[in-house]
Amino acid sequence: MMIPNQSFFFIFFLSVIFNTLASPTHQRDALLEFKNEFPFNASDPRAPPEAPLSSWNTSSDHCSWKGVTCNAHSSEVISLVLEYTYLNGSLKANTSLLKLHHLHHLTLYNCDLIGEIPSSLGNLSHLRHLNISDNNFLTGEIPSSIGNLSYLSFLDLSHNYLVGKIPSSLGNLSRLTVLDLSDNHGLIGEVPPSIGNLNQLTIMICYINKLNGNIPSSFANLNKLSYLILSENQFSGGDLPLILSNLTSLSYLDISENHFKSKLPPNMSGLHNLEVFRVSSNSFVGTFPTSLFRIPSLREVYLNGNQFEGPLEFGNISSSSSELELLELASNDFHGPIPEDISLFRKLDIISLSNNSFTGSIPGSMFKLVSLSELDLSYNKLEGQVPSFLWRIYTLRLSHNSFSNLEELPQAVVNGSDYDLTSNSVQGPVQFDLSSNALEGLIPRWICKHSSLIFLDLSNNHLSGSIPSCLMNCTSSLGVIILRNNNLSGFLPDIFTNATKLRSLDVSRNQLSGKLPKSLINCTSMENLNLKGNKFKDTFPSWLSSLGSLSVLFLGSNALYGPISSHLGFPSLRVIDLSNNSFNGTLPQDYFVNWREMASVGEKDGFTSSDGIDTFMEHMGGGIYEDSMDMMYKGVDTEFPLILLMFKAIDFSGNKFTGRIPKSIGMLKELRHVNFSRNAFTGSIPSSLANIKNLEALDLSHNKLSGYIPRDLANLSFVSYLDFSHNLLQGPVPRSTQFQRQHCSSFEDNLGLFGLEDICGSVHVPHPTSGDSHQSKEFSSEESEEALSWKAAAIAFGPGVFCGLVIGYIFFTSHKQTHMVHGKARLNHLGGSITVS
Ligand SMILES: *[C@@H]1O[C@H](CO)[C@@H](O)[C@H](O)[C@H]1NC(C)=O
Ligand SMILES: *[C@@H]1O[C@H](CO)[C@@H](O)[C@H](O)[C@H]1NC(C)=O
Ligand SMILES: *[C@@H]1O[C@H](CO)[C@@H](O)[C@H](O)[C@H]1NC(C)=O
Ligand SMILES: *[C@@H]1O[C@H](CO)[C@@H](O)[C@H](O)[C@H]1NC(C)=O
Ligand SMILES: *[C@@H]1O[C@H](CO)[C@@H](O)[C@H](O)[C@H]1NC(C)=O
Ligand SMILES: *[C@@H]1O[C@H](CO)[C@@H](O)[C@H](O)[C@H]1NC(C)=O
Ligand SMILES: *[C@@H]1O[C@H](CO)[C@@H](O)[C@H](O)[C@H]1NC(C)=O
Ligand SMILES: *[C@@H]1O[C@H](CO)[C@@H](O)[C@H](O)[C@H]1NC(C)=O
Ligand SMILES: *[C@@H]1O[C@H](CO)[C@@H](O)[C@H](O)[C@H]1NC(C)=O
Ligand SMILES: *[C@@H]1O[C@H](CO)[C@@H](O)[C@H](O)[C@H]1NC(C)=O
Ligand SMILES: *[C@@H]1O[C@H](CO)[C@@H](O)[C@H](O)[C@H]1NC(C)=O
Ligand SMILES: *[C@@H]1O[C@H](CO)[C@@H](O)[C@H](O)[C@H]1NC(C)=O
Repeated sequence: MMIPNQSFFFIFFLSVIFNTLASPTHQRDALLEFKNEFPFNASDPRAPPEAPLSSWNTSSDHCSWKGVTCNAHSSEVISLVLEYTYLNGSLKANTSLLKLHHLHHLTLYNCDLIGEIPSSLGNLSHLRHLNISDNNFLTGEIPSSIGNLSYLSFLDLSHNYLVGKIPSSLGNLSRLTVLDLSDNHGLIGEVPPSIGNLNQLTIMICYINKLNGNIPSSFANLNKLSYLILSENQFSGGDLPLILSNLTSLSYLDISENHFKSKLPPNMSGLHNLEVFRVSSNSFVGTFPTSLFRIPSLREVYLNGNQFEGPLEFGNISSSSSELELLELASNDFHGPIPEDISLFRKLDIISLSNNSFTGSIPGSMFKLVSLSELDLSYNKLEGQVPSFLWRIYTLRLSHNSFSNLEELPQAVVNGSDYDLTSNSVQGPVQFDLSSNALEGLIPRWICKHSSLIFLDLSNNHLSGSIPSCLMNCTSSLGVIILRNNNLSGFLPDIFTNATKLRSLDVSRNQLSGKLPKSLINCTSMENLNLKGNKFKDTFPSWLSSLGSLSVLFLGSNALYGPISSHLGFPSLRVIDLSNNSFNGTLPQDYFVNWREMASVGEKDGFTSSDGIDTFMEHMGGGIYEDSMDMMYKGVDTEFPLILLMFKAIDFSGNKFTGRIPKSIGMLKELRHVNFSRNAFTGSIPSSLANIKNLEALDLSHNKLSGYIPRDLANLSFVSYLDFSHNLLQGPVPRSTQFQRQHCSSFEDNLGLFGLEDICGSVHVPHPTSGDSHQSKEFSSEESEEALSWKAAAIAFGPGVFCGLVIGYIFFTSHKQTHMVHGKARLNHLGGSITVS
């Protein structure tokens, strides 16, 4: 009986030591030491100055300190939760935290920890909950010793900058229920199969990393898994049929934005708890996963951005019991009609079928989808009538189809209040994009019923008649009106008195006539005004110069006349096109003095030619907006998506201006394009043009300019297009690489230019035989390719990209996810070298 006694004493002795270690002062001192491991007097630069952990001082019991929880009986620290505490230091390998032996819960969330996670944390053997999420500078690998924390049930290392592989030791954490490694950007390699041992796991989140390879088959063991989010990695495969058939608890599956190439499992109806199924932006192939739609709990399906094909078949769905709210199928190869039984999903709120090859007309049964608030059918091959019930929908995109007409609402409905659009269950701004169809007839008057219409695009159709003046009812909400390229006639109605939110008005390429409505002066937010290609007959609207935001003004190809005097200048204007009108008179030498935006480097100039599209994209919202304007670009009439119309340009060509070209043009240092051609300018070319260092195109042809071409123009090192032809110029042509590259015809028909041997060959500069050499001018293949590419860009940009900079609004943002860029074209650079792959 001696031995038990001995061991009794031994145990007694140990427990004395242990109690000493765990004594309140020991715990308190450990916390104070921990505090001292950080330069804690540094105040948080994001918050009012206050030393972090200032409550951690000896004037009070450590169990009352901020973030500290003790065992009520022993005063041992069992939980330490610090959130938004600016520590600005690293966790040391010998951190005093290790003395808090009884710690169950450790959260250091958003504490600006830097450096690595010390592997010694694996010694906190009682930890159940470890959350070191959202620390700005936490880097290094996940220590494999974390796998020693055998009681751990909750591990959150998300939103840091961790790198390296996921240690397979994590597979030892047999009690783990939550594993969040998301948004570290740097976790690489394959997921260790041992993770499949974690059969208590209910949540696994790893999005935004660089994990690759297959999802391990061992995941089939995770039969308690409810959330599996692996999006934005580089996973390429895995035995999905095997895995998914066993993950019967799954309610949220997101494997979007990876490199999966396979088919989906043929039967997924066993996932009877599934609510969200998200496989967008992979390369999945095969037919529409009909089995999915037999899952009654299903709420959201995202198949967009894959290579699914064939018709939509929903199979046997028990009507009215479906929970489906969102169906996102954009950017696949689906074809065939939109099935009538889509309307069995009565709760559908958002449908996007855009950028497929759907044919036929919009099924009448969709009338029953009373909750529908967003419908995107753009970029398909749909045709027929646009049914009037669609006007309940808040975001309607039908562009780029072949719809032929808009069904009128019955007159009783239009007049009566029973069709009260404002009583739609969905609240919010209304956006209609019906552009690029074959719509005929009048603009329906009931559009005016939408008092919260913010976006209206009916461009590129065959609409006729006049612009309804009842639009006045919506102008106080409208941000964008695009009616470009229709057959609209009559006056532009004077409806803009309250249009203070209107940023873009494009009625170009119609048959509008008469004077410009004076109420435009009240459009104080106006940025882009395009009236080009109509029959407007009015004097120059110099009063528009009071619109402080006006940055793009297109008045070209109308019947505008008279002088263009403007005392104030256009301080915000980036691009002005007055071409092909009958403006006349002389321009004072100081004409451009107050055009400040063209004279200075604006914030938007950073996104011009030299920048990659990626830089540009970062500055745009996820919304969709498309509009374009056309102007002469290096001698070619080119359609620019507004988002690319970033350069600064002046086009006064094709008018009746006389006198000298104002010297003050040289103050507009940021201009890229200057076109004064086809006027009656006299005198010499202002040498101040040489101050416009970034000038890319200069067209002075078809004037009566005399004297020498200023020698300083040879210093314009970015010029790629020059035209001096059909003037009275003489003397030597300046010598520079840029001048030598021009076509001979750029100098033809002058009084006596010489030094053209390199440009025109030994033959003399040809004299014109007819007056239309301007039209017949050949462009280098590079230039025409460029023009083509701009168009391709316009197509490529379709939806998915948005003119945040020019228009500034975010349209169509209520979509729960961002659309793919349509089409297969890709933009490499903004200026010039746009390629189509
Ligand atoms: C923090 O500031 C207090 C006085 O405000 C000072 O006594 C203490 O030494 C400082 N601690 C550190 C680590 O700089
Ligand atoms: C954070 O720590 C770094 C050094 O690690 C130091 O340069 C910086 O000044 C600290 N910030 C504050 C606000 O104390
Ligand atoms: C010590 O902590 C208490 C709260 O526990 C606080 O009111 C007091 O200001 C702190 N003292 C110092 C010197 O920071
Ligand atoms: C931790 O180690 C550092 C050296 O790495 C040493 O300066 C410091 O005193 C140690 N702290 C404790 C509490 O042991
Ligand atoms: C962690 O535990 C290991 C093994 O039990 C031991 O060797 C190591 O010294 C401990 N580290 C710290 C910092 O306590
Ligand atoms: C980690 O802690 C933060 C702050 O308490 C919390 O917002 C976050 O949800 C926690 N992580 C997880 C996965 O719950
Ligand atoms: C803790 O983990 C490390 C690395 O995984 C291992 O070498 C060590 O033996 C483990 N210690 C204990 C006490 O389990
Ligand atoms: C599927 O789960 C069951 C337990 O629910 C398990 O016995 C079986 O091994 C799992 N299948 C695979 C392929 O892992
Ligand atoms: C425009 O608004 C007025 C008054 O708010 C209303 O009487 C009229 O019916 C509206 N016009 C149309 C076409 O909706
Ligand atoms: C313009 O707005 C004012 C004030 O909001 C309102 O009283 C007036 O009726 C509106 N005018 C038109 C034409 O809508
Ligand atoms: C501009 O709006 C004001 C009221 O805000 C109005 O009095 C004025 O008539 C409007 N101007 C034009 C030209 O419509
Ligand atoms: C400008 O054109 C108008 C007619 O459009 C004409 O009356 C006027 O005399 C012209 N002015 C000059 C300076 O040519």
